[in-house]
Formats: sequence, C-alpha cells, structure tokens
Amino acid sequence: MSTTIPQQVPPASAQPEKETTVGNYFVSNYPPFSFWKSEQVDQAYAALRRPPRPGTDLGIYLHIPFCRKRCHFCYFRVYTDKDSTAIKAYIDAALKELSLYAAESFIGGRKPSFVYFGGGTPSYLSVDQLRHLTDGMKAILPWDQVEEVTFECEPGTLTDHKLKAIREMGVTRLSLGVENFDDHILEINGRAHHSKEIARAFKYARELDFPQINIDLIAGMVEETEGNWRECIRKTIEMQPDSVTIYQMEIPYNTTIYKQMKAEGKLAAPVADWETKRHWVAGAFAELEKAGYTVGSAYTAVKDKQKTRFLYRDRLWAGADLLALGVASFGHIGGTHFQNHHDFEPYVNALTDGKLPIYRALTPTPDERLIREFVLQLKLGQISTSYFEQKFGIDIRKRFAVPLRTLEDWGFLTMHGDTVKLNREGLLQVDRLLHEFFLPQHKNARYA
Ligand SMILES: C[S@@+](CC[C@H](N)C(=O)[O-])C[C@H]1O[C@@H](n2cnc3c(N)ncnc32)[C@H](O)[C@@H]1O
Ligand code: SF4
Repeated sequence: MSTTIPQQVPPASAQPEKETTVGNYFVSNYPPFSFWKSEQVDQAYAALRRPPRPGTDLGIYLHIPFCRKRCHFCYFRVYTDKDSTAIKAYIDAALKELSLYAAESFIGGRKPSFVYFGGGTPSYLSVDQLRHLTDGMKAILPWDQVEEVTFECEPGTLTDHKLKAIREMGVTRLSLGVENFDDHILEINGRAHHSKEIARAFKYARELDFPQINIDLIAGMVEETEGNWRECIRKTIEMQPDSVTIYQMEIPYNTTIYKQMKAEGKLAAPVADWETKRHWVAGAFAELEKAGYTVGSAYTAVKDKQKTRFLYRDRLWAGADLLALGVASFGHIGGTHFQNHHDFEPYVNALTDGKLPIYRALTPTPDERLIREFVLQLKLGQISTSYFEQKFGIDIRKRFAVPLRTLEDWGFLTMHGDTVKLNREGLLQVDRLLHEFFLPQHKNARYA
C-alpha cells in the first residue's frame, strides 16, 4: 500500500464531517506528499551515498501494480491491461532497481529484516513470474535475516499451486483482500472475486500453515447495510483469521465512484456516512474483542497478541529505512523521503537506462521527523512519552501541548503518566484528528 496518487484532505474539527464526500482520509506519511519535490531528488541521492545511521532497520517494499479489474473504490496505481511481456519488463526493472540500491553506501552491509509485496495485486503474478522475482531479489539482498514477508492477495487469483509457491517463497503474512462476503456487494463494487473463492483460498492457506493470515474488510461499500456488515463480521469470526484489517471506505478523486459522482453532479458518495462507518467498525471491534481478539490500531484486531506482529508497520512508523521499489512507491532512506515515477513507461525506461526512477523527495526537519513518528504511532491508539524523550530528546506533552489539549477537550484523548491514549471514539477517527499535530503550512493542504 505504499503508493499514492493526488488527493485532497478534509479539515478537522470537534464535530466530525458527516457525509462521505470526495477526498483522501487515510494519513500514511508526513509531511504530505504534495510537499515532496522533483527539485529535491538530489537529496535522495545524497542520502544513498551516506552510511546508515547505526541501529536503523532496513525493509523492502515492492509495488505490483497489476489487477484483474479495477475496483470502483480503488485509488491505487494499478493497470488491468498489461500483458506478460510488459509484466516481465516490470519485474526485470524492479530487480534492476534493487541491484542499483544494493550497490549504494546506505546499505552498509545490512540485509532486509522485512519485505512487503503490496499492490495492486501481487498474487496476480504467475508462479514462474513470482519465482523469477523472488529468486532475483534474494540473489541481490539475501533474505536470511528477514523476520516478516507480507504478500497482498486478491482471493480469486489464488490457485492451490500458486499458494504453495507463495508459501515456499518465504511469505510469513498472507493478506487477503476479502472486503465483503456478499456476492452482490462484491460485484457492484467492481471486485473481481466471489465469496466462494474466499473460503477456498482461506482453507488452503490454512492447510499450508502460513504463520499469519490477515483479511482486509471495508466498512461502507456501495449498498452495504447494517445487516450485511454484521454478517461479514460473523463470517470473519467464524474463519478465525490471525488478524483482521478494517478500512472505512473513502472515495478519493481518482476512483470510478468519484468520476460517476462528478458526472451526476453529486457531492456525497453513494456509501454510508462517516458516523455510520465508525459505528460499524466500533461494532466489529466489539464483536472481535468478545471473540478473543485484541484491537491493536485504528484498523486492526489480532487473535493472539503475543504471536501476531505487524513488523512492516511498526518498524516503518518508528523510522526504519524503506527501500521502495516499483511504480509510484514511496520510501525513506537515511532521513530523506522519496517517491518513484507515477507511470509505467517512465518507471521502466529509467531503469532500462540504468537510472533510479526517483521522481520527488523531501528531507524532513528534525521537528517534522518527530511529528511523523508521533502521528503515525498515534494510529496505534497510544503513545509512550519516554520513547520520544529518548529518541528525540523532546517532551511531547510540551511540544504538542496545544493539540493534545484540543483532543482532550473534544473528549478523544487522555494523558496519564508516560501514556497518551486515544479512546475508541478517537481511535476510529484518528486520521482526521492527526491534522491537529501538523505544522500550519501542512494543515488541510493537498495531501499528495
Ligand atoms: C492493495 S489492496 C489489497 C490486495 C488486492 N489488491 C485486493 O484488493 O484484494 C489494499 C486494501 O486497501 C483497501 N482499500 C482499497 N481502496 C479503498 C478505499 N477507497 N477505501 C478504503 N479501503 C480501501 C482494501 O481493503 C484493499 O484490500
Ligand atoms: S484488486 Fe485491490 S489494488 Fe486492485 S483495484 Fe481492487 S482494491 Fe485496488
């Protein structure tokens, strides 16, 4: 999911917005992408030439931008028209990209500790393509120190043969884009898969003993009702996945749904309003908790807290280096953010010419780095002030005195001793609240 396309952010206030209007809700980074500039790409190259800061983890993200169909709500960079020649060219470009990075000083003898295949649909690739890709990656930067390999899948693309190959590649966390269990709802939202394929893929993945199986759900798909949502949660609990990720439906500008809204002159999207979606996620979390799950962030519940980790998320949110490969991917190296070309041809062509496809970059100031970690970690629901004291030498109670008080006054946040904690209501709307901690120039600015 480390890719993004231009979006707009709604302003925050004590009263949450009601209808689902167009725009991007989810905060995935800071400062906002619209502040990353092409003129600053040299900063990324300079970061590559520096040795790593001691103790900094290294991860790899690869964006696989292919899908069977474009879902009507989807805002990721995806292509549904690429043939096997284009896909082969893309995989070779990504391998070339990794080899260019591997030759740079910032690696400093490190090996990756986590790898993430996001999309688009990584499971769209054939077994041969996947083997070529992962064998090639391991030959460049070995995976012998890797603790987590995540692989996003669209259930209808998973054959038994492919799942077996994915397991053999070393994937530890299989993430299934289930979204909903009702065939009519899947269909009218433009999903390519059906409910039968969910059950089949899940059963076989269990037999193959993946260490962690996650399922993604979306609260508020077109035509979703309270009854359907309850049924989705009942089925989820019946399946007993190791973790569940629930997103509240957002309708960014580049979605098919928005294009239709625009054509019809509508401002509100044909999906549940924000209050309803929060109510549905609150109900889902309550049911999951009753079934023994623990809510670990604004979007996730895990079955076994001791065993189930989200290393990619946790390391990234604590400032790890992320080597981002693929079209539109974004990463972070030695204190500098960078993002790749948004389009297929410039991405592949740059690598064919032996050049990195970096398109824009930004080096956050120490204060912006602090804000970034603070806002991302607040999505976990609680923050330890001593972590920031030790890492940045800053007392966040003082640095963020005004926005912390604001969120306290709005009834979403409490502070006790070392802990800053959001209550459930605050957690379920954390993304809009995070803007309170942004620097003035970044508040309500274009996000990407
Ligand atoms: C890259 S997809 C996962 C893999 C695969 N492409 C699939 O959809 O099955 C990442 C997830 O983002 C979520 N997502 C995509 N568009 C969304 C939107 N407009 N609002 C909320 N969540 C969204 C979906 O839950 C989806 O599973
Ligand atoms: S399958 Fe996943 S990445 Fe592809 S269009 Fe649908 S939501 Fe987006």
